[in-house]
Amino acid sequence: MKVLVIGSGGREHAICKKLAESKLVKELYCAPGNAGIKECAILVPIGVMEFEKIASFSKDNDINLVFVAPDNPLADGLVNFLEEKGINAFGPRKEAAIIEGSKAFSKAFMKRHNIPTALYEEFDSYENAKKYILKINKYPIVIKADGLAYGKGVIICETEKDAINALQEMMNSKVFGDAGSKVIIEEFLEGKEVTVLAFTDGKTVIPMPSSQDHKKAFDGDKGLNTGGMGAFSPATGYTSAAEKETIERIINPTIKGLFEEGRMFKGVIYFGLMVTKDGVKVIEYNARFGDPETEAILPLLKTDLMEIVLAIQKGELDKIKVEFEDKASLCVIIASGTYPGKVVTGYPINITAKLSDDVILYHCGTAIKDGVLVSNGGRVLCLSAKADTIEEAREIVYKEIDKVKFEGSRYRTDIGVK
Ligand SMILES: Nc1ncnc2c1ncn2[C@@H]1O[C@H](COP(=O)(O)OP(=O)(O)O)[C@@H](O)[C@H]1O
Ligand SMILES: [Mg+2]
Repeated sequence: MKVLVIGSGGREHAICKKLAESKLVKELYCAPGNAGIKECAILVPIGVMEFEKIASFSKDNDINLVFVAPDNPLADGLVNFLEEKGINAFGPRKEAAIIEGSKAFSKAFMKRHNIPTALYEEFDSYENAKKYILKINKYPIVIKADGLAYGKGVIICETEKDAINALQEMMNSKVFGDAGSKVIIEEFLEGKEVTVLAFTDGKTVIPMPSSQDHKKAFDGDKGLNTGGMGAFSPATGYTSAAEKETIERIINPTIKGLFEEGRMFKGVIYFGLMVTKDGVKVIEYNARFGDPETEAILPLLKTDLMEIVLAIQKGELDKIKVEFEDKASLCVIIASGTYPGKVVTGYPINITAKLSDDVILYHCGTAIKDGVLVSNGGRVLCLSAKADTIEEAREIVYKEIDKVKFEGSRYRTDIGVK
Protein backbone atom coordinates (compact mmCIF):
# COMPACT_ATOMS: atom_id res chain seq x y z
CA MET A 1 0.00 0.00 0.00
CA LYS A 2 0.94 3.63 -0.45
CA VAL A 3 0.33 5.55 2.75
CA LEU A 4 0.42 9.29 3.47
CA VAL A 5 0.77 10.40 7.11
CA ILE A 6 -0.38 13.94 7.96
CA GLY A 7 1.63 15.80 10.61
CA SER A 8 5.15 16.84 11.53
CA GLY A 9 5.94 16.08 15.18
CA GLY A 10 7.45 13.38 17.35
CA ARG A 11 4.14 11.56 17.33
CA GLU A 12 4.17 11.43 13.54
CA HIS A 13 7.79 10.25 13.57
CA ALA A 14 6.80 7.38 15.88
CA ILE A 15 3.83 6.54 13.65
CA CYS A 16 5.92 6.70 10.46
CA LYS A 17 8.63 4.50 11.96
CA LYS A 18 6.05 1.83 12.78
CA LEU A 19 4.35 2.07 9.40
CA ALA A 20 7.72 1.88 7.62
CA GLU A 21 8.33 -1.43 9.41
CA SER A 22 4.99 -2.85 8.21
CA LYS A 23 4.98 -5.59 5.60
CA LEU A 24 1.80 -4.04 4.23
CA VAL A 25 3.27 -0.63 3.47
CA LYS A 26 5.21 -0.35 0.23
CA GLU A 27 5.60 3.42 0.00
CA LEU A 28 5.34 5.89 2.85
CA TYR A 29 4.86 9.64 2.56
CA CYS A 30 4.50 12.31 5.22
CA ALA A 31 3.13 15.86 4.88
CA PRO A 32 4.86 18.00 5.90
CA GLY A 33 7.04 15.77 8.15
CA ASN A 34 10.44 16.74 9.53
CA ALA A 35 14.11 15.88 9.13
CA GLY A 36 13.84 12.70 11.20
CA ILE A 37 10.73 11.46 9.42
CA LYS A 38 12.68 11.90 6.18
CA GLU A 39 14.70 8.80 7.19
CA CYS A 40 11.63 6.58 6.84
CA ALA A 41 9.17 8.46 4.61
CA ILE A 42 9.17 10.69 1.55
CA LEU A 43 8.39 14.25 2.67
CA VAL A 44 5.62 16.15 0.92
CA PRO A 45 5.67 19.95 1.36
CA ILE A 46 1.98 20.37 2.19
CA GLY A 47 0.61 21.75 5.47
CA VAL A 48 -1.79 19.78 7.67
CA MET A 49 -4.65 22.24 7.02
CA GLU A 50 -4.23 22.34 3.23
CA PHE A 51 -7.10 19.97 2.56
CA GLU A 52 -7.34 20.55 -1.20
CA LYS A 53 -3.63 19.97 -1.71
CA ILE A 54 -3.69 16.83 0.43
CA ALA A 55 -6.56 15.47 -1.69
CA SER A 56 -4.85 16.32 -5.01
CA PHE A 57 -1.57 14.79 -3.90
CA SER A 58 -3.38 11.63 -2.79
CA LYS A 59 -5.25 11.32 -6.10
CA ASP A 60 -2.20 12.08 -8.24
CA ASN A 61 -0.05 9.56 -6.40
CA ASP A 62 -2.61 6.78 -5.93
CA ILE A 63 -2.37 6.95 -2.14
CA ASN A 64 -4.30 4.03 -0.63
CA LEU A 65 -4.61 5.50 2.83
CA VAL A 66 -4.19 8.91 4.48
CA PHE A 67 -3.39 8.63 8.21
CA VAL A 68 -4.50 11.88 9.87
CA ALA A 69 -2.57 12.28 13.15
CA PRO A 70 -3.00 15.86 14.52
CA ASP A 71 -6.01 17.40 16.29
CA ASN A 72 -6.75 20.43 14.09
CA PRO A 73 -7.31 18.68 10.75
CA LEU A 74 -9.35 15.97 12.51
CA ALA A 75 -11.59 18.54 14.24
CA ASP A 76 -11.98 20.45 10.98
CA GLY A 77 -13.08 17.35 9.10
CA LEU A 78 -10.12 16.31 6.94
CA VAL A 79 -11.28 12.70 7.13
CA ASN A 80 -14.78 13.66 5.92
CA PHE A 81 -13.29 15.85 3.19
CA LEU A 82 -11.06 13.07 1.85
CA GLU A 83 -13.78 10.42 2.06
CA GLU A 84 -16.17 12.63 0.10
CA LYS A 85 -13.56 12.67 -2.64
CA GLY A 86 -13.26 8.89 -2.57
CA ILE A 87 -9.92 8.89 -0.72
CA ASN A 88 -9.45 6.36 2.03
CA ALA A 89 -8.59 8.08 5.34
CA PHE A 90 -7.77 6.89 8.86
CA GLY A 91 -8.97 8.84 11.88
CA PRO A 92 -12.30 9.90 13.33
CA ARG A 93 -14.67 11.97 11.23
CA LYS A 94 -15.53 15.48 12.37
CA GLU A 95 -18.73 14.30 14.11
CA ALA A 96 -16.64 12.05 16.37
CA ALA A 97 -13.52 14.24 16.67
CA ILE A 98 -15.76 16.88 18.29
CA ILE A 99 -15.14 15.11 21.61
CA GLU A 100 -11.76 16.85 21.50
CA GLY A 101 -12.68 19.89 19.40
CA SER A 102 -15.33 21.12 21.85
CA LYS A 103 -14.95 20.70 25.58
CA ALA A 104 -18.55 21.90 26.00
CA PHE A 105 -19.68 19.07 23.74
CA SER A 106 -17.60 16.47 25.57
CA LYS A 107 -18.79 17.58 29.01
CA ALA A 108 -22.44 17.45 27.94
CA PHE A 109 -21.81 14.08 26.28
CA MET A 110 -20.37 12.68 29.51
CA LYS A 111 -23.38 14.01 31.44
CA ARG A 112 -25.80 12.36 28.97
CA HIS A 113 -24.05 9.03 29.36
CA ASN A 114 -23.29 9.14 33.07
CA ILE A 115 -19.55 9.07 32.50
CA PRO A 116 -17.72 10.35 35.59
CA THR A 117 -16.07 13.76 35.15
CA ALA A 118 -15.57 16.98 37.11
CA LEU A 119 -18.77 18.93 37.89
CA TYR A 120 -19.03 21.95 35.64
CA GLU A 121 -21.00 24.85 34.22
CA GLU A 122 -20.82 26.19 30.68
CA PHE A 123 -20.94 29.89 29.74
CA ASP A 124 -21.02 31.87 26.53
CA SER A 125 -21.44 35.25 28.22
CA TYR A 126 -18.65 36.92 30.17
CA GLU A 127 -21.13 38.61 32.52
CA ASN A 128 -22.81 35.35 33.49
CA ALA A 129 -19.52 33.55 33.93
CA LYS A 130 -18.27 36.37 36.16
CA LYS A 131 -21.46 36.30 38.25
CA TYR A 132 -20.97 32.56 38.74
CA ILE A 133 -17.36 33.02 39.80
CA LEU A 134 -18.30 35.66 42.36
CA LYS A 135 -20.48 33.03 44.05
CA ILE A 136 -17.73 30.39 44.25
CA ASN A 137 -15.90 30.10 47.53
CA LYS A 138 -13.85 26.97 47.05
CA TYR A 139 -10.54 27.25 45.18
CA PRO A 140 -8.77 26.21 42.99
CA ILE A 141 -11.23 26.10 40.12
CA VAL A 142 -10.50 25.22 36.52
CA ILE A 143 -11.45 27.40 33.55
CA LYS A 144 -11.28 25.88 30.07
CA ALA A 145 -11.68 27.41 26.64
CA ASP A 146 -14.22 25.35 24.70
CA GLY A 147 -12.20 24.92 21.49
CA LEU A 148 -8.70 23.85 20.50
CA ALA A 149 -6.04 26.13 21.95
CA TYR A 150 -2.75 24.29 21.35
CA GLY A 151 -2.79 22.83 24.86
CA LYS A 152 -2.88 26.29 26.47
CA GLY A 153 -6.62 26.80 26.93
CA VAL A 154 -6.89 25.45 30.48
CA ILE A 155 -6.18 27.66 33.46
CA ILE A 156 -6.14 26.46 37.04
CA CYS A 157 -7.16 29.44 39.13
CA GLU A 158 -6.11 29.71 42.77
CA THR A 159 -8.06 32.87 43.55
CA GLU A 160 -11.11 34.83 42.43
CA LYS A 161 -8.80 37.41 40.92
CA ASP A 162 -7.03 34.75 38.80
CA ALA A 163 -10.40 33.44 37.67
CA ILE A 164 -11.74 36.82 36.57
CA ASN A 165 -8.45 37.46 34.78
CA ALA A 166 -8.65 34.14 32.96
CA LEU A 167 -12.24 34.85 31.91
CA GLN A 168 -11.30 38.32 30.74
CA GLU A 169 -8.45 36.95 28.61
CA MET A 170 -10.45 34.11 27.07
CA MET A 171 -13.84 35.74 26.54
CA ASN A 172 -13.08 39.43 26.05
CA SER A 173 -9.47 39.69 24.88
CA LYS A 174 -9.95 36.48 22.87
CA VAL A 175 -6.37 35.28 23.37
CA PHE A 176 -7.45 31.89 21.98
CA GLY A 177 -9.65 33.39 19.26
CA ASP A 178 -13.05 31.75 18.85
CA ALA A 179 -11.92 28.79 20.97
CA GLY A 180 -12.61 30.99 24.01
CA SER A 181 -16.05 32.30 23.02
CA LYS A 182 -17.47 29.64 25.25
CA VAL A 183 -15.87 28.47 28.50
CA ILE A 184 -16.25 25.62 30.94
CA ILE A 185 -15.80 26.30 34.64
CA GLU A 186 -15.23 23.11 36.56
CA GLU A 187 -14.27 21.72 39.91
CA PHE A 188 -10.61 20.96 40.56
CA LEU A 189 -9.94 17.24 40.79
CA GLU A 190 -7.26 15.94 43.07
CA GLY A 191 -5.50 12.69 42.33
CA LYS A 192 -3.12 11.00 39.93
CA GLU A 193 -3.28 11.83 36.27
CA VAL A 194 -3.23 8.94 33.82
CA THR A 195 -3.55 8.70 30.06
CA VAL A 196 -5.10 5.72 28.35
CA LEU A 197 -4.99 5.52 24.57
CA ALA A 198 -7.17 2.99 22.80
CA PHE A 199 -7.72 1.67 19.32
CA THR A 200 -11.38 1.52 18.32
CA ASP A 201 -13.38 0.73 15.21
CA GLY A 202 -16.48 2.30 16.77
CA LYS A 203 -17.64 -0.92 18.43
CA THR A 204 -14.66 -2.89 19.66
CA VAL A 205 -12.13 -1.06 21.77
CA ILE A 206 -8.61 -2.16 22.64
CA PRO A 207 -6.81 -0.08 25.28
CA MET A 208 -3.05 0.40 24.97
CA PRO A 209 -0.74 0.39 28.01
CA SER A 210 -1.40 3.36 30.33
CA SER A 211 0.96 6.32 30.40
CA GLN A 212 1.58 9.62 32.10
CA ASP A 213 2.98 12.79 30.64
CA HIS A 214 4.68 15.79 32.22
CA LYS A 215 3.00 18.99 31.08
CA LYS A 216 4.95 21.61 33.00
CA ALA A 217 8.07 23.17 31.53
CA PHE A 218 10.46 22.66 34.46
CA ASP A 219 11.56 20.08 37.01
CA GLY A 220 9.25 19.56 39.96
CA ASP A 221 6.26 20.50 37.78
CA LYS A 222 7.20 24.17 37.82
CA GLY A 223 6.57 26.76 35.15
CA LEU A 224 4.08 27.02 32.34
CA ASN A 225 2.16 24.23 30.67
CA THR A 226 3.76 22.87 27.51
CA GLY A 227 2.69 20.37 24.88
CA GLY A 228 4.42 17.80 27.11
CA MET A 229 8.07 17.45 28.24
CA GLY A 230 8.21 13.69 28.55
CA ALA A 231 6.14 10.62 29.32
CA PHE A 232 6.40 7.14 30.70
CA SER A 233 4.44 3.91 30.65
CA PRO A 234 2.82 2.28 32.55
CA ALA A 235 1.33 5.06 34.69
CA THR A 236 2.01 4.63 38.39
CA GLY A 237 -1.49 5.48 39.63
CA TYR A 238 -3.27 3.04 37.35
CA THR A 239 -3.92 -0.01 39.52
CA SER A 240 -5.75 -3.01 38.13
CA ALA A 241 -8.85 -1.88 40.07
CA ALA A 242 -8.62 1.56 38.46
CA GLU A 243 -8.17 -0.10 35.07
CA LYS A 244 -11.25 -2.25 35.49
CA GLU A 245 -13.31 0.73 36.61
CA THR A 246 -12.02 2.82 33.69
CA ILE A 247 -12.98 0.20 31.14
CA GLU A 248 -16.44 -0.37 32.60
CA ARG A 249 -17.43 3.16 33.55
CA ILE A 250 -15.52 5.27 31.05
CA ILE A 251 -14.07 3.54 27.99
CA ASN A 252 -16.97 1.26 27.07
CA PRO A 253 -19.75 3.83 27.73
CA THR A 254 -17.85 6.44 25.69
CA ILE A 255 -17.52 4.23 22.61
CA LYS A 256 -21.12 3.02 22.96
CA GLY A 257 -22.43 6.54 23.57
CA LEU A 258 -20.70 7.91 20.48
CA PHE A 259 -22.06 5.03 18.40
CA GLU A 260 -25.61 5.54 19.67
CA GLU A 261 -25.43 9.24 18.85
CA GLY A 262 -24.41 8.54 15.26
CA ARG A 263 -20.85 9.66 15.94
CA MET A 264 -19.11 6.34 15.47
CA PHE A 265 -15.46 6.83 16.43
CA LYS A 266 -12.88 5.05 14.29
CA GLY A 267 -9.26 5.62 15.12
CA VAL A 268 -7.28 6.26 18.26
CA ILE A 269 -9.09 7.76 21.23
CA TYR A 270 -7.28 9.34 24.17
CA PHE A 271 -8.70 9.28 27.67
CA GLY A 272 -7.16 11.91 29.96
CA LEU A 273 -8.06 10.62 33.43
CA MET A 274 -7.73 11.57 37.07
CA VAL A 275 -7.67 8.72 39.55
CA THR A 276 -9.31 10.38 42.57
CA LYS A 277 -10.35 9.05 45.94
CA ASP A 278 -13.92 9.02 44.61
CA GLY A 279 -13.01 6.96 41.57
CA VAL A 280 -11.61 7.54 38.11
CA LYS A 281 -12.87 10.66 36.30
CA VAL A 282 -12.38 11.99 32.80
CA ILE A 283 -10.36 15.21 32.48
CA GLU A 284 -10.68 15.31 28.73
CA TYR A 285 -10.87 13.29 25.55
CA ASN A 286 -8.53 13.62 22.60
CA ALA A 287 -9.38 12.20 19.20
CA ARG A 288 -5.89 10.99 18.32
CA PHE A 289 -2.55 9.70 19.57
CA GLY A 290 -1.06 11.97 22.24
CA ASP A 291 2.32 13.63 21.97
CA PRO A 292 4.70 12.66 23.67
CA GLU A 293 2.82 9.60 25.02
CA THR A 294 3.02 8.03 21.56
CA GLU A 295 6.82 8.19 21.61
CA ALA A 296 6.75 6.07 24.79
CA ILE A 297 3.98 3.67 23.77
CA LEU A 298 4.43 2.82 20.12
CA PRO A 299 7.90 1.31 20.67
CA LEU A 300 6.11 -1.31 22.79
CA LEU A 301 3.64 -2.29 20.06
CA LYS A 302 4.37 -5.76 18.69
CA THR A 303 1.45 -6.06 16.24
CA ASP A 304 1.84 -4.52 12.78
CA LEU A 305 0.32 -1.00 13.12
CA MET A 306 -0.97 -1.10 9.54
CA GLU A 307 -2.80 -4.35 10.26
CA ILE A 308 -4.57 -2.61 13.16
CA VAL A 309 -5.41 0.42 10.99
CA LEU A 310 -6.94 -1.78 8.31
CA ALA A 311 -8.94 -3.79 10.86
CA ILE A 312 -10.32 -0.54 12.29
CA GLN A 313 -11.34 0.66 8.86
CA LYS A 314 -13.12 -2.59 8.07
CA GLY A 315 -14.84 -2.61 11.46
CA GLU A 316 -13.04 -5.85 12.28
CA LEU A 317 -10.95 -4.92 15.27
CA ASP A 318 -12.54 -7.86 17.11
CA LYS A 319 -10.88 -10.22 14.61
CA ILE A 320 -7.26 -9.36 15.37
CA LYS A 321 -4.99 -9.66 18.36
CA VAL A 322 -3.17 -6.50 19.38
CA GLU A 323 -0.06 -7.14 21.43
CA PHE A 324 2.29 -4.88 23.35
CA GLU A 325 5.56 -5.82 25.00
CA ASP A 326 5.11 -6.23 28.72
CA LYS A 327 7.76 -3.60 29.46
CA ALA A 328 8.16 -0.10 30.79
CA SER A 329 9.00 2.80 28.53
CA LEU A 330 10.04 6.41 28.98
CA CYS A 331 10.75 9.37 26.75
CA VAL A 332 12.20 12.83 27.37
CA ILE A 333 11.70 15.90 25.18
CA ILE A 334 14.68 18.07 24.26
CA ALA A 335 13.25 21.56 23.80
CA SER A 336 14.40 24.98 22.67
CA GLY A 337 15.68 27.08 25.58
CA THR A 338 12.77 29.51 25.75
CA TYR A 339 9.98 27.00 25.09
CA PRO A 340 7.00 27.24 25.78
CA GLY A 341 7.58 30.94 25.14
CA LYS A 342 8.61 32.32 21.76
CA VAL A 343 11.56 30.35 20.40
CA VAL A 344 14.39 30.99 17.97
CA THR A 345 14.84 28.15 15.47
CA GLY A 346 17.58 27.18 13.04
CA TYR A 347 20.26 26.15 15.56
CA PRO A 348 22.48 23.31 14.30
CA ILE A 349 21.87 20.08 16.22
CA ASN A 350 25.03 18.27 17.33
CA ILE A 351 25.07 14.60 18.08
CA THR A 352 28.43 14.40 19.79
CA ALA A 353 28.73 10.60 20.03
CA LYS A 354 26.91 7.59 18.63
CA LEU A 355 23.70 6.93 20.52
CA SER A 356 23.20 3.54 22.13
CA ASP A 357 21.04 1.04 20.24
CA ASP A 358 18.81 0.98 23.32
CA VAL A 359 17.35 4.42 22.56
CA ILE A 360 15.26 5.85 19.76
CA LEU A 361 15.74 9.50 18.87
CA TYR A 362 12.45 10.87 17.53
CA HIS A 363 12.38 14.23 15.82
CA CYS A 364 9.64 16.65 16.91
CA GLY A 365 10.65 19.94 15.31
CA THR A 366 13.68 19.64 13.05
CA ALA A 367 14.62 20.60 9.51
CA ILE A 368 17.58 20.41 7.15
CA LYS A 369 18.95 23.86 6.30
CA ASP A 370 21.83 24.09 3.84
CA GLY A 371 22.53 20.43 4.43
CA VAL A 372 22.64 20.82 8.22
CA LEU A 373 20.21 19.37 10.76
CA VAL A 374 18.69 22.29 12.68
CA SER A 375 16.08 22.95 15.37
CA ASN A 376 12.73 23.98 13.95
CA GLY A 377 10.26 24.33 16.79
CA GLY A 378 9.69 24.49 20.54
CA ARG A 379 9.87 20.78 21.12
CA VAL A 380 12.79 19.64 18.98
CA LEU A 381 13.70 16.02 19.76
CA CYS A 382 12.50 13.18 21.94
CA LEU A 383 14.69 10.40 23.31
CA SER A 384 12.88 7.18 24.16
CA ALA A 385 13.86 3.84 25.71
CA LYS A 386 12.14 0.72 26.95
CA ALA A 387 13.32 -1.60 29.72
CA ASP A 388 12.00 -3.90 32.41
CA THR A 389 11.26 -1.04 34.76
CA ILE A 390 10.64 2.70 34.48
CA GLU A 391 13.79 3.32 36.56
CA GLU A 392 15.91 1.38 34.08
CA ALA A 393 14.35 3.08 31.08
CA ARG A 394 14.98 6.44 32.73
CA GLU A 395 18.61 5.56 33.39
CA ILE A 396 19.16 4.61 29.75
CA VAL A 397 17.61 7.83 28.42
CA TYR A 398 19.44 10.16 30.80
CA LYS A 399 22.76 8.40 30.16
CA GLU A 400 22.44 9.18 26.45
CA ILE A 401 20.64 12.51 26.39
CA ASP A 402 23.66 14.84 26.70
CA LYS A 403 24.99 13.48 23.41
CA VAL A 404 22.28 15.54 21.69
CA LYS A 405 22.64 19.31 21.88
CA PHE A 406 21.93 22.61 20.22
CA GLU A 407 22.23 26.20 21.38
CA GLY A 408 20.04 26.69 24.44
CA SER A 409 18.66 23.12 24.35
CA ARG A 410 17.00 22.00 27.54
CA TYR A 411 15.18 19.03 29.03
CA ARG A 412 13.53 18.07 32.28
CA THR A 413 15.71 15.87 34.47
CA ASP A 414 12.85 14.30 36.45
CA ILE A 415 10.68 12.50 33.91
CA GLY A 416 9.22 9.42 35.55
CA VAL A 417 10.48 10.37 39.01
CA LYS A 418 7.21 11.45 40.63
N1 LIG B 1 -10.81 19.48 36.61
C1 LIG B 1 -9.49 19.45 36.72
N2 LIG B 1 -8.91 19.26 37.92
C2 LIG B 1 -7.56 19.25 38.04
N3 LIG B 1 -6.71 19.44 37.02
C3 LIG B 1 -7.23 19.63 35.79
C4 LIG B 1 -8.64 19.65 35.57
N4 LIG B 1 -8.85 19.84 34.25
C5 LIG B 1 -7.64 19.96 33.68
N5 LIG B 1 -6.66 19.84 34.59
C6 LIG B 1 -5.20 19.90 34.35
O1 LIG B 1 -4.96 20.73 33.20
C7 LIG B 1 -4.36 19.97 32.15
C8 LIG B 1 -4.92 20.40 30.81
O2 LIG B 1 -6.33 20.18 30.78
P1 LIG B 1 -7.05 19.38 29.62
O3 LIG B 1 -8.51 19.35 29.92
O4 LIG B 1 -6.35 18.09 29.44
O5 LIG B 1 -6.87 20.36 28.39
P2 LIG B 1 -5.89 20.45 27.15
O6 LIG B 1 -5.04 19.21 27.11
O7 LIG B 1 -6.81 20.59 26.01
O8 LIG B 1 -5.09 21.69 27.41
C9 LIG B 1 -4.65 18.51 32.50
O9 LIG B 1 -3.68 17.66 31.96
C10 LIG B 1 -4.65 18.54 34.02
O10 LIG B 1 -3.33 18.47 34.54
MG1 LIG C 1 -4.90 17.38 27.92
